[in-house]
Amino acid sequence: EKADLKASILEVNKTAAKYFYVQLKSERGKQAYTYLKNRELSDETITAFGLGYSNKYSDDLYKYLRQKGYSEDLIRQAGLINTDEKQGVYDKFWNRVIFPIMDVNSRVIGFGGRVMGDAKPKYLNSPETAVFDKSRNLYGLNRARTSKKPYFLLCEGYMDVISLHQAGFTNAVASLGTALTPGHASLIKRYVKEVYLTYDSDEAGTRAALRAVPILRDAGITAKVVRMDPYKDPDEFIKNLGAEEYEKRIGQARNGFMFTLETLEKNYDMNSPEGKTAFLREAAGRLAEFEDELERDNYTEAVASAYRVSVDSLKKLVVKMAVSAG
Ligand code: CTP
Ligand code: MN
Ligand code: MN
Ligand code: MN
Ligand code: MN
Repeated sequence: EKADLKASILEVNKTAAKYFYVQLKSERGKQAYTYLKNRELSDETITAFGLGYSNKYSDDLYKYLRQKGYSEDLIRQAGLINTDEKQGVYDKFWNRVIFPIMDVNSRVIGFGGRVMGDAKPKYLNSPETAVFDKSRNLYGLNRARTSKKPYFLLCEGYMDVISLHQAGFTNAVASLGTALTPGHASLIKRYVKEVYLTYDSDEAGTRAALRAVPILRDAGITAKVVRMDPYKDPDEFIKNLGAEEYEKRIGQARNGFMFTLETLEKNYDMNSPEGKTAFLREAAGRLAEFEDELERDNYTEAVASAYRVSVDSLKKLVVKMAVSAG
């Protein structure tokens, strides 16, 4: 029963994705196609990611799918329509550029839709359905899985993944605005043991990176953090500075733990002995969380050297913190 529902949702999604794609290439999709061209996407990229367009008519897709024989109930369970007392049944996506979201086997599990202007919300996404668990899927993984690189580039958005792939970084994936979960981390672990976080350079992106580092570490994945400043995100960075400069930033990526400390440091007055001591206590508390003793020792030495304190006293502090944390 449940397996039947899943298969049916995947089928209706696939039909919808094809419809959106055909619309993009039609006269009606001209504005959307131009929008993607202005964002410097090639036809190959548009096809590779199956990008599309949802029409301006409020029940365009719904009518198409009904005429293809899909039931209203199924279309609803796929998250493609909503019902309103006044309007009746209407399409979820209306006059938006469409990004089909695929699972690792390239089956369409949901959609994202972007407005072409500045209207809000900028993106609409399918709700979670029987086939779409946002905490267990990564955008771009169906393509990144065959990349030869031993690491993934983990970014925030649709356009970041697409721009990176187009620029030759075919190991890019995104958690699509939702925070990275242990489910994402264990999915990543099936393919690579190292992740380069290439989130947006704003405060939200920094916070998201800080939260992602321990989640990845708990899954046994090493995290590094790539700086995108002075640009907002990988898409803008690539557009302005190109692939070679991006590659350089990968080379300069900071270790996730040291990045965490550098960010924490900003909360303390490092020029006063009290401030620096309080900071080192917090750093020691975090060092104490390393379960692997060798790793803990190596990081303790790195911190001692970076912040110019004696390794011995820092090690003692770490042991004390570990004991008091139980
Ligand atoms: N997002 C979302 N809903 C929003 C805003 C963002 O679901 N209202 C998700 C999208 O997956 C988006 C990601 O969060 O790709 C990152 O958001 P943001 O940085 O704001 O968007 P960009 O991906 O940079 O979008 P664009 O470049 O198209 O402006
Ligand atoms: Mn979930
Ligand atoms: Mn952002
Ligand atoms: Mn962007
Ligand atoms: Mn962004």
